[in-house]
Amino acid sequence: MPSHVESQICRTIADVLEIDVSQVSPDQHFVNDLGANSLDVVEFVMRLEDHFKIEVPDDAADRVQTVGDLIQYICQLVIGPCEAETKALVAVASDHAGFALKSAIIRHLTKGERKLLDLGPAKPEPCDYPEYAVKVATAVVTGEAKYGILVCGTGAGMCITANKVPGIRAALVHSAYEARMTREHNDANVICLGSRVVGEGQAIEAVELFLATAFDPGDDGRHRRRVELIDAVEKTFAS
Ligand code: RB5
Repeated sequence: MPSHVESQICRTIADVLEIDVSQVSPDQHFVNDLGANSLDVVEFVMRLEDHFKIEVPDDAADRVQTVGDLIQYICQLVIGPCEAETKALVAVASDHAGFALKSAIIRHLTKGERKLLDLGPAKPEPCDYPEYAVKVATAVVTGEAKYGILVCGTGAGMCITANKVPGIRAALVHSAYEARMTREHNDANVICLGSRVVGEGQAIEAVELFLATAFDPGDDGRHRRRVELIDAVEKTFAS
């Protein structure tokens, strides 16, 4: 999501609460951290509707509790899912522990316009997660798929394995916030989820946001520079 949208949201919050914008960050809770009340949240939403010329549903103010929630919510209304990203091919795989969650994610994504490549397994019989992590990682680095989704019990084994494949930036994600940030800041190309750690709703929300969020190089290119530094580390240890 473009950083100008996020900056405008933080500025609006700061203006309403009459604080400096440097005091506003995505992890803050409106009530507990910023001392805002429900009327303040309604005021943020109204000002953002005016600024971005969007219509926010009436119950939105009840659903956002943190600055990050509001950023996420407004960004989706302002930007919407990018058509090209929506149609990009996504490779998905799991092990036996992640099979049920993988199936739920596939069911959800295929209801939309997503083109999916299910790289297995076909049944939830005991299997070895590295085999499936490599299948998805290979599909991504060869360009067969733009993004990968990997599910095992914790997500950790999948993530460790996928990151051994040069060109893969796999992120272990437990929340929508992490999903968004790892696309924006790390240009992650594989999302790893733990079926024994996150619920189905949480996982689907994270996947949706991961696939809908663009990499943000940063206004001074700092996020791009850091991703290039990751590539340089990979090259240093390649031989
Ligand atoms: C399988 O029991 C479990 O080890 C695997 O799904 C995963 O959590 C590994 O990281």
